[in-house]
Amino acid sequence: MTDDINSPTSGFNRRAFIAAAGTAVATPLVARAAGPAASSPVPQDASLRVNVTLRINGEIKSLTLDARTTVLDALREHIGLAGSKKGCDHGQCGACTVLIDGRRVVSCLTLALAAEGCDITTIEGLSKGGKLHPMQQAFIDQDAFQCGYCTPGQIMSAVACVQEGHANSDDDIREYMSGNICRCAAYPNIVAAVKQAAPEILKG
Ligand code: FES
Ligand code: FES
Repeated sequence: MTDDINSPTSGFNRRAFIAAAGTAVATPLVARAAGPAASSPVPQDASLRVNVTLRINGEIKSLTLDARTTVLDALREHIGLAGSKKGCDHGQCGACTVLIDGRRVVSCLTLALAAEGCDITTIEGLSKGGKLHPMQQAFIDQDAFQCGYCTPGQIMSAVACVQEGHANSDDDIREYMSGNICRCAAYPNIVAAVKQAAPEILKG
């Protein structure tokens, strides 16, 4: 998983996030001191609204989000791309895996703000011209799923696994795909799918 998007040269505007978050912390304190009654409801998120521009599957999306919105929630709840799945929401299952600047990340732990200026690729962006990506086709050919819930994350991770040069053996594939959990235990078929697709992906 990458932390490149947190580098000082990335599009992530830390100052904007910290300023927004700092305001959010301060607001309830001020409201409590000035408000008529301690039980008055305080709008919690108004001060956290930020404008975010994301590049998703080559398309620019301009959104106004709570600064704490993850890439996964931005995709699913605000853009309508529900292919990336929410499994654990804690960075442990890999169901939400997307590519950011070509590297796999768990989108449930990545702030949308942090991905500003980056290229985000989701499962919806893999096929080209109505033709499935070789990894998508390989998952079908090898029966590499049962319920399919983990499959979008598995496929995104598998694409990166090949591009990273980590698909040279079954052990390699198992090791570098180990962040993606399949509760249906389709692991042998997933390894077979990665092996099938790897040559085609690498030849470009
Ligand atoms: Fe993101 Fe499980 S939903 S890792
Ligand atoms: Fe069901 Fe993987 S196919 S969790």
